[in-house]
Amino acid sequence: MAYTQWYKEMAVYQIWPRSFCDGNGDGIGDLWGVLEKLDYIKSLNVDAIWFSPLYPSPNADYGYDIADYKSIHPDFGDLELFRRVLEEAHKRGLKVFMDLVVNHSSDEHPWFRESRSAKDSPYHDYYYWRPGRKGPLGKRLPPNNWTSLFEGGAWEYDSNLDEYYLHLFAKKQPDLNMSNPKVRAEVKDILRFWLDLGVDGFREDVITFTGKAPGLPNSYPKLPIANGMKYFSNRPEVYDYLREFRDEVLSGYDCFTVGESPLTTADIALRYVTEGENKVLDEMISFSHMEADCFMTDMIRRPFDLKKMKRAFSEWQYKLAGRGWNALYIENHDHARIISRYGSEEYPAESGKMLAAMYILQRGTPFIYQGQEIGMTNIRLPEIGMYKDVASHNNYRIFSKLLGKKKAMELLQYSSRENARTPVQWDSSANAGFSSTRPWFSVNPNYTAVNVAAQEADPGSLLNFYRSLLSYRKSSPLVLYGEYRELYPEDNSFYTYERSYQGKRLLVICHFSSVPHGFMAPADMELIKGRLLFSNYKTHSFNGNGFIARPWELRVYEL
Ligand code: GLC
Ligand code: CA
Repeated sequence: MAYTQWYKEMAVYQIWPRSFCDGNGDGIGDLWGVLEKLDYIKSLNVDAIWFSPLYPSPNADYGYDIADYKSIHPDFGDLELFRRVLEEAHKRGLKVFMDLVVNHSSDEHPWFRESRSAKDSPYHDYYYWRPGRKGPLGKRLPPNNWTSLFEGGAWEYDSNLDEYYLHLFAKKQPDLNMSNPKVRAEVKDILRFWLDLGVDGFREDVITFTGKAPGLPNSYPKLPIANGMKYFSNRPEVYDYLREFRDEVLSGYDCFTVGESPLTTADIALRYVTEGENKVLDEMISFSHMEADCFMTDMIRRPFDLKKMKRAFSEWQYKLAGRGWNALYIENHDHARIISRYGSEEYPAESGKMLAAMYILQRGTPFIYQGQEIGMTNIRLPEIGMYKDVASHNNYRIFSKLLGKKKAMELLQYSSRENARTPVQWDSSANAGFSSTRPWFSVNPNYTAVNVAAQEADPGSLLNFYRSLLSYRKSSPLVLYGEYRELYPEDNSFYTYERSYQGKRLLVICHFSSVPHGFMAPADMELIKGRLLFSNYKTHSFNGNGFIARPWELRVYEL
């Protein structure tokens, strides 16, 4: 909980460690690789790194199933090496945030092992163990009808205990019982451990799922995925847990917290992030703007709907204005690559730059996901056997039943989050310069063209565009603190917004199409008199107080 406001001016770089950079040549990204790349990260003009989980884990969900909260996975290094990374990051003025995953642990965590050893184990109540129900003809049924997000039903039977445990995600991710004060004491202990080591804050994984409705009631209508949501998402208990963590631990440190919150609206987010004495999180990660080409889950695909995306961004911008602070992002390890989704692979540089400015110039803290800054695109793996992620396999299973295998495969190619998990493309040498040996996961074959080294050498590259955008943002009170106002919300080809601050105005014009469209600025905004700050084309003609926008054209004017 930062009582200072540094988090409002920072930009954050997200590392998904397995695919960032392999420093010791075993094909898996690690902290040696991160050490090598700290100067690169700093050169992007970001101010902090968020590490997706670095802890020991059997990798049922690639690190989001933690077997030891106070150590580092041997694939990535050890605590000693982590301390060095932290120190070297701090030397460069980069803060470091850890991923706090306490809705669930791994089933290989000693707590869970103990909890399943006996009903009277002191750890039994660390998790949600419940007896089954009796169905027709005495058939054993799970305690309720909830379904998980990752692997079928939400309950797993243990014959030794004759009880079921709850898992909202994969079977190997049992939900921790946060209503147990002992579990909360463990969480506070984990927080203190990392803060005392010098870490600067946390991204809190599915934190809004940590409270479950007492009695764990059945939920109707029954959905094949995440059934029971209304009983496990944004329950009032979550706020109390977060307040306890704040009061007893976080308020004693100058640290930052951002919560992750699937299916949370701006109004609900305000419960947690409204500034003042009720604030229990600095920011909340929104999902609504990531649903402009899908419905509820990335797999229920719909044609990209610009108005839906604009409405989502604007809703959070307006509602949080003067009250809370936004977390801004368009990519992370859970979503397909943005150029392949909201932009165009035919115009990767143009659409990549436009998308960058589109979100970074809004009010909030921008997060940039590894590889986004060079415009990495979807790999589109063609066969299910090539996928490693538990959620991709679950989606394939569900959607091939509903739509057939071919259609399910197409959906995965477009939507799977593994599209964002291919090794970072550092140069055009073997394995994209990610590793000296065969990487743990497929490299996108476009690495010979799309890579960091090539873009370093090109002043007009997407990489250098990100650098100047982030440097400008940092030095501009207008972008940092100015008011946001959307223009032409009903327009189907442009996302246009204004930022204003102390008599200065910024006009951000984003063209979302591969075919030309005419743009006309409002009469009180004379483009010709403005100063063009950012654009993705070299020449700029006018047509009245507007212009004919070329494919994915971006223009940012200071007026
Ligand atoms: C969050 C993480 C995701 C993970 C899930 C379960 O949504 O971002 O990667 O699979 O939680 O921990
Ligand atoms: Ca390695």
